[in-house]
Amino acid sequence: MTIKKQKGRFITFEGIDGAGKSTHIQFVSGMLTKAGIDHIITREPGGTPLGEQLREILLHQKMSVATEALLMFAARQEHLEQKILPALQQGIWVISDRFADASFAYQGAGKQFSWEKLEQLETWVLGDTQPDLTLLFDLPAEIAEERRSGTHEPDKFEQEKNDFFQRAQAGYLKRAGTYPERFRVIDSSQSIAVIQSKIADIIQPMIDASH
Ligand code: ADP
Ligand code: TYD
Repeated sequence: MTIKKQKGRFITFEGIDGAGKSTHIQFVSGMLTKAGIDHIITREPGGTPLGEQLREILLHQKMSVATEALLMFAARQEHLEQKILPALQQGIWVISDRFADASFAYQGAGKQFSWEKLEQLETWVLGDTQPDLTLLFDLPAEIAEERRSGTHEPDKFEQEKNDFFQRAQAGYLKRAGTYPERFRVIDSSQSIAVIQSKIADIIQPMIDASH
């Protein structure tokens, strides 16, 4: 009898710009490395050569919100097919800086694009693939704005006003309410040390279960 290698776990990081995703991705990656777990870090929009080209367009060119939603999901289709699913099949864990929830938060809640159409795109592109865990970094829009100011030149989305980010934040919480089994909402107004001890409490059992 052959022993089938366990599938990798799929972990997504979500939150408005400046909420702390990049900071905590590095922390989780460090935990996985220490535990000897093979993993990749990827991002959306992007993650593949075509996806990165679409990212350039999405982050810098003006377009209708419908076009934006379609391009986000086109990049996601490529990302899933070329990178995420093959890695998971090989037992490699995937950490993604944003995934489908971001389209609901930004295009859906932020830009008020049809939630129903996004659900149709999600069904089409994702099929029954959902992350095993989504860490949502919950932070008031004003604090997120302060944290990201001066870190880099703002892209098209980061130039949006605070009320846009407030809506996006609410959109994320709506998704968390719809998928309570995979979401963990983390109060990101706390210190990095406190947040990371909470993240460790969530990730360590997943690591233990994989050994
Ligand atoms: P994101 O990837 O979600 O845009 P970052 O991880 O880049 O967010 O964080 C934005 C900025 O806020 C960075 O300068 C980071 O060091 C800082 N930061 C992240 N988390 C905290 C925290 N809990 N308290 C204070 N500053 C933080
Ligand atoms: P991000 O990589 O978080 O930006 P940065 O490199 O500046 O941290 O994400 C790029 C932007 O794309 C971000 O503002 C959110 C937006 N976005 C959407 O609007 N919809 C989506 O589906 C995704 C994945 C991202």
